[in-house]
Amino acid sequence: MHRFFVKIMSVHVQNSRLTTTKLRQMKANGEKIAMLTSYDFTLASLVDEAGIDILLVGDSASNVVCGNSYTLPITVDEMIFLTKGVVRAARHALVVCDMPFGSYQVSEEEAVRNAIKILKESGCDAVKLEGGEEILPAIRHMIQAGVPVMGHLGLTPQSVNQFGGYGLRAKEEAEAEKLLHDAKLLDEAGCFSIVLEKIPAALAEQVTKAVSCPVIGIGAGNGCDGQVLVLHDMLGLNQGFKPKFLRHFAQLADQVKGAVSEYVGAVKDSSFPSAEESY
Ligand code: KIV
Repeated sequence: MHRFFVKIMSVHVQNSRLTTTKLRQMKANGEKIAMLTSYDFTLASLVDEAGIDILLVGDSASNVVCGNSYTLPITVDEMIFLTKGVVRAARHALVVCDMPFGSYQVSEEEAVRNAIKILKESGCDAVKLEGGEEILPAIRHMIQAGVPVMGHLGLTPQSVNQFGGYGLRAKEEAEAEKLLHDAKLLDEAGCFSIVLEKIPAALAEQVTKAVSCPVIGIGAGNGCDGQVLVLHDMLGLNQGFKPKFLRHFAQLADQVKGAVSEYVGAVKDSSFPSAEESY
């Protein structure tokens, strides 16, 4: 009797997510890059299907998801937990996870260890961290270790206690010069992209032209290679937050409240569930 051994080929699911190389090509071709934040599987699936290029699991999750008034409290493990859901949803978009406050400032070793932990445990494609020359050694170590890094300059919300608020940054000459210098350093160090937050449009355009990597703006005018917004802000879910740079592409807060009050009414007057909705 012959014994037949059947070799079962494992089906390898191809990761067709956008790459950092493709992002550079987009800049070279003048193709704009669209990025939004995401913090959960369900919304990230919709955002990914709708054609977004980059999904950012921002530390704005500290505000949007956890209800804090600033980004500082969120931890590495909480960011990993949220990022896992977004990674499971992402079929086309590159997934970037913010490194939270305190996870990269203490030492280069700790920064690299945390960056690797985030990449390994969440499955994301890259990390983002806030700052310029001060954190350059950490950024260099991460990139040498194989971690793709997105920089973030201008209004860096983790430094809110230093800035004393969330106002426009780099409007004075000295800060603008430092920002341009920092952007060049991040670019030379190998950052695959840089976010510029809440700075004058002319400066953002100057930076975008001066660096080889794609520049993504938020409140930084139209001269950047791409744009990013916080998903809940642009969907109109975050009532009462309306800075000049924000456009509401929907008014979901009204729709959510309308649907919920209809549901409450239907439960109270016993019209829900109907016979058709019952077993
Ligand atoms: O955390 C975040 O949402 C961000 C974006 C505003 C760029 O960093």
